[in-house]
Amino acid sequence: MIIAVDGPTASGKGTIAKALAAHFGLPHLDTGLLYRAVGKQVVQAGGDPDSPADALAATEFPDSLLDDPDLRNEVTGSLASRVSIHPAVRQALFARQRSFATQAGGAVLDGRDIGTVIAPEAQVKLYVTASVEVRAQRRCAEMRDAGREVSLDEMMADLAARDERDTNRNDAPLMVAPDALLIDTTSLGKDAAIAAAVDAVNSAT
Ligand code: C5P
Repeated sequence: MIIAVDGPTASGKGTIAKALAAHFGLPHLDTGLLYRAVGKQVVQAGGDPDSPADALAATEFPDSLLDDPDLRNEVTGSLASRVSIHPAVRQALFARQRSFATQAGGAVLDGRDIGTVIAPEAQVKLYVTASVEVRAQRRCAEMRDAGREVSLDEMMADLAARDERDTNRNDAPLMVAPDALLIDTTSLGKDAAIAAAVDAVNSAT
């Protein structure tokens, strides 16, 4: 069973994907981390994230980079969104995601294009979303917990810019797959959102 969980940043898709993986005993891949690793690596190498050649060269990163806590910050998130525009970068990361998705026994993957490009045959496709205000509030709270204060307005502007870039790119844009089930977490608590996702998987399989 392949479970595809797509949606914009801070929508709750990562939390839902992790919980589904634990509930159904499946391995989980956060595909955003791959793009974040490319974003971090390109800058570390002194390259330009907007250059397709520089970004492509950064797709060869060590596995240990995926554990770097820096990958989670907003600066790296924005870099990820810039490198993810380049078709050559998406192509270079495709095989790794595809083989994870098709491993024996199934898998849960979360990202932007899992149900549309990486695993269009997924038995379950969820599209998790929430208003930009609520997503920005969640991200600000996470940052505050990590000891960093970011203004809500700044965060909303950053998320809106990222949504715009992810939705309007030509290659594998963020979109709702026609057969995806929508989960809007704007006014759902974490437990309710997870319960809705578990129900969706149970009724689809
Ligand atoms: O989900 P996360 O915020 O970690 O993703 C960071 C960025 O990586 C996104 O804004 C998006 O541009 C890119 N991404 C993507 N395709 C995916 C996962 C992430 O383009 N499957």
